[in-house]
Amino acid sequence: MPRDPAGDPAADSPIIAVRGLSKIFSRDGQAVEAIKDFDLTVCEGEFVSIVGPSGCGKSTFLHMLGGFERVDGGDMLIRGRPVTGPGPDRGVVFQEFALYPWRTVLQNITWPLEIQKVPKAERTAIAERLLAQIGLGRFRDHYPAELSGGMKQRVAIARVLAFDPEILLMDEPFGALDAQNRELMQEDLQVLWNATRKTVIFITHDIDEAVYLADRVVVFTARPGRVKAELTIELERPRGIEIKKTPEYARYRNEIWDLLRDEVLRARREAE
Ligand SMILES: Nc1ncnc2c1ncn2[C@@H]1O[C@H](COP(=O)(O)OP(=O)(O)O)[C@@H](O)[C@H]1O
Ligand SMILES: [Mg+2]
Repeated sequence: MPRDPAGDPAADSPIIAVRGLSKIFSRDGQAVEAIKDFDLTVCEGEFVSIVGPSGCGKSTFLHMLGGFERVDGGDMLIRGRPVTGPGPDRGVVFQEFALYPWRTVLQNITWPLEIQKVPKAERTAIAERLLAQIGLGRFRDHYPAELSGGMKQRVAIARVLAFDPEILLMDEPFGALDAQNRELMQEDLQVLWNATRKTVIFITHDIDEAVYLADRVVVFTARPGRVKAELTIELERPRGIEIKKTPEYARYRNEIWDLLRDEVLRARREAE
């Protein structure tokens, strides 16, 4: 839905609004507070990267937003409605590629459309368009085992885009890739985002990746996770990979690393 600042006042309201969120797990009879006093607002079409120390509750937050984990306290709203479970408005991409090995590339991408009972000709057309977009048209009839890690992850992203969710939730999607493939995937995702302008929540432990992709970087505290700081990234778009060599980019990187470092050290102390 395009924004209309002159008209509907709801047009500028956030697509995701989280207030006072908390999540408590129980482990060996002990309560583990994964998330506490967590607030975050995301606007439509915004690309938000999340960084934070390992174990601070990033994945838990994304699972809650995806509707896979219950909200224990506070509010988690999408377009003003509480999240009560998964839905077609949200597509999820995890680190594991999670493709069906017995299905071809094309059949993997058409799978969510089959569930939605989209007619065959239409779902094939959608999948072929997405395959062209991710540069894998030639591989439509190949099986996942014949693809590299980067290609598999591109197929996993195309599969999520097939049902055209408004929101993409990505949890370290490039974490299993080697450094070169990772960089290429960052460029691909940036191009894709420029074309679709989806709302994206992107978790990563790679500060470079967080800055390169995002409109805003959110830094989590050590567990229980909450928002420690938010930085608006004012690098112009579209962003070529050469932007990583600019002083502005280095400044963002350093600033985020300074914020993160204290939390990583705190998480480490608490683990000892
Ligand atoms: N299903 C679960 N049961 C119990 N504890 C969990 C569960 N999921 C996550 N946790 C705990 O919650 C904390 C946050 O985990 P997680 O969200 O996976 O962190 P991150 O993604 O930031 O590394 C960790 O201490 C983890 O052990
Ligand atoms: Mg995680």
